Amino acid sequence: MPVPTIDWVGGLPGKIKMIDQTLLPNQYKFLYCDNVKCAWDAIKRLVVRGAPAIGVAAAMGTVVGIQKSKAKTMKQFRKDLKKVTSYLATSRPTAVNLFWALDRMERVADENSDKTVPELKRILLDEAKTILEEDKKICRRIGRNGAKLVKKGDTILTHCNAGGLATGDYGTALAVMFAAHEAGKKISVYADETRPLLQGARLTTWELMKAKIPVTLICDNMAAQVMKEGRIDLVVVGADRIAGNGDAANKIGTYGVAILAKEHGVPFYVAAPASTFDLTLKTGEEIPIEERAAEEVTEGFGKRTAPKGAKVYSPAFDVTPAKYIAGIITERGVIRKPTSAKVRKMIA
Ligand code: MRU
Repeated sequence: MPVPTIDWVGGLPGKIKMIDQTLLPNQYKFLYCDNVKCAWDAIKRLVVRGAPAIGVAAAMGTVVGIQKSKAKTMKQFRKDLKKVTSYLATSRPTAVNLFWALDRMERVADENSDKTVPELKRILLDEAKTILEEDKKICRRIGRNGAKLVKKGDTILTHCNAGGLATGDYGTALAVMFAAHEAGKKISVYADETRPLLQGARLTTWELMKAKIPVTLICDNMAAQVMKEGRIDLVVVGADRIAGNGDAANKIGTYGVAILAKEHGVPFYVAAPASTFDLTLKTGEEIPIEERAAEEVTEGFGKRTAPKGAKVYSPAFDVTPAKYIAGIITERGVIRKPTSAKVRKMIA
């Protein structure tokens, strides 16, 4: 069930069109950005979110950032481009797809330094669109590879949203569910609500219900009991950055789910594209963890739920050590029981 998470409208100059995910599931509206401040803000505020979708937004954000550049020389244009990519790089720190996409845009500019400024603008737009189209294909492949791990009648637990909304379309973790469902495996899903921003409640249940996959919403603190009752056959989650040894950063709470899965003998899988691996990092210890505003915890969605002035610590991600991961499902295949050597072999 494709979701038009993000797209480009018009030519050059044009606009980024994004579903405003902060409004879901109550309102289905699009945000249009024709300048880099708007794109930066959309990434920061989670209008567009999920590692692969952030990558696409960064690439398209680069284009809206340079499309009106008045540079006459390539030297000046490259300065303008660097300013835009450096700015976008400050929006969110954890999802490596953001940096991966910005590097790719810079690389394309390097490779086309013999072109004119208008030609290079067009090439950068084409590259951003290619990143989107590639991601759609990658997600289908992740779905196909992951669905092989799902047996008929299985119940899957997931955390946060790694669906069509978090990617070009179709998702990573949810791709596994969509593909298993399309293969007639009669699966069902438990979705953690995912405090504090409720991506599980607001987005995952929305996507799965639209796809007519039976989904049951639980609060995050119910996962242990649900596993103890024997209701879960496997866990599948997405990732924001995977270190060279297979340690995987994902939405805060994922690490706890992995430990619970181990305790209850439930296999725990991570689904992610090759672009989510960061082979410059040896282990997950080196992954930068985003910290978010206290208000998201104390007055999320406009209702105060803690006393004014309450001290808050809000890491947005955690890292699940590779030892808890039964397999990482990628578009290239499944890395079972990940180790540095296996990750290198599949991804490098
Ligand atoms: O803060 P978010 O909503 O961007 O966090 C998203 C996640 O943690 C996803 O699980 C991850 O990016 C994978 S998306 C395919």
